[in-house]
Amino acid sequence: MVSKVVVTLRLYLCILLLCWIPKLYAFDLVHEPISPIPAASNLSPEKIELGESLFHDVRLSKDNSISCASCHNLSKGGTDNQPVSRGVNDALGSANAPTVYNSALNFMQFWDGRAFNLREQTNGPVHNPVEMNSNWPEITHKLSHDRPLSERFARLYPEGLTADNIQDAIATFEASLLTSHSPFDRWLKGDAQALSEQQIQGYRLFKSYGCISCHQGANVGGNMFAYLGAVNNVQSYFQQRGTPINPPDYGRYNVTGELEDKYLFKVPSLRLAVKTAPYFHDGSVSTLQEAIRLMARYQLGREIPDNHTEAIIIFLHSLVGEHPRLTP
Ligand code: HEC
Ligand code: HEC
Repeated sequence: MVSKVVVTLRLYLCILLLCWIPKLYAFDLVHEPISPIPAASNLSPEKIELGESLFHDVRLSKDNSISCASCHNLSKGGTDNQPVSRGVNDALGSANAPTVYNSALNFMQFWDGRAFNLREQTNGPVHNPVEMNSNWPEITHKLSHDRPLSERFARLYPEGLTADNIQDAIATFEASLLTSHSPFDRWLKGDAQALSEQQIQGYRLFKSYGCISCHQGANVGGNMFAYLGAVNNVQSYFQQRGTPINPPDYGRYNVTGELEDKYLFKVPSLRLAVKTAPYFHDGSVSTLQEAIRLMARYQLGREIPDNHTEAIIIFLHSLVGEHPRLTP
């Protein structure tokens, strides 16, 4: 009798375990450190459309010469592909323009996180003397002469055309710039065919080297700050760059004034990295190969062989998703 109970119990345990194995497997997939880009939802299509036209509107700049799109070209991965951007009167900026795609997923905006969200972010380029060199009263004054535009605002916002509402429309448009359905995301969701063997190999290396400790989450970055030179001395990074250290190189220190925040940067998203050369906050690195070599050295204290770099690049290609404005 007792042995019968033991046998039944064992059988029961075996069945329980067998049922659990696929669950454990699925559990593992869910807990990959990168998650799929969510679909943009609950955004008003009319506000997106209005935001898109403002994003391309040169009247946001002092001399009507540049728009947001001048530095964030949507067909070029949302950047200008320049080391540092040029603003009104060809003024040379001091930082590399990050992509606007998926920027809604970042926990803060700018390399040093000086804006908390996309609405607040728009104050930066509008006022920056080497970008649009303007201000909200000037912009709303100019735009208010545009009847059809004022009417569009009036239809969508009770207060009509105001600085707040310009910011809201642009931020709404940017929130729609999500690149979903990448091969990598399809793989995360269970489509085993979505990635090649080489891409999976590249992803394994990305994890085993430790890149994933900083470049993670839905945006494969954009959710934490990290020191440039987390492991290796940052001074030798600037030495090999060959140009003097400038204020933008101080990163988060410029926001907080705390010495320990020197050289601390928002970890950039790698979602569109294959499209957004040159690299780093200073735009000093022209290829992905070089960016990865420097990352391994300064962030992880390792020298990475070329075949591993290439495998990681092949993996990075799988992170690129789709958006109607983004040319494949
Ligand atoms: C003259 C070029 C230029 C113009 C014009 C410009 N930007 Fe930028 N943008 C940049 C640069 C350079 C940065 C990075 C600056 C920094 O972090 O210090 C940036 C950063 C951003 C970011 C932050 C992204 C991130 O990952 O942190 C967003 C979002 C953005 N810009 C949107 C806009 C919008 C919206 C406009 C128009 C209102 C605009 N930009 C106009 C060059 C430009
Ligand atoms: C300790 C955190 C950390 C680790 C580990 C790390 N990174 Fe980075 N990564 C950063 C930060 C911070 C930057 C921005 C540096 C700057 O602009 O000065 C960056 C920038 C990059 C860029 C340039 C992106 C752009 O748009 O400019 C690439 C590509 C990159 N990392 C890939 C990698 C790879 C591949 C690995 C692993 C070999 C890795 N990173 C490891 C924090 C990290």
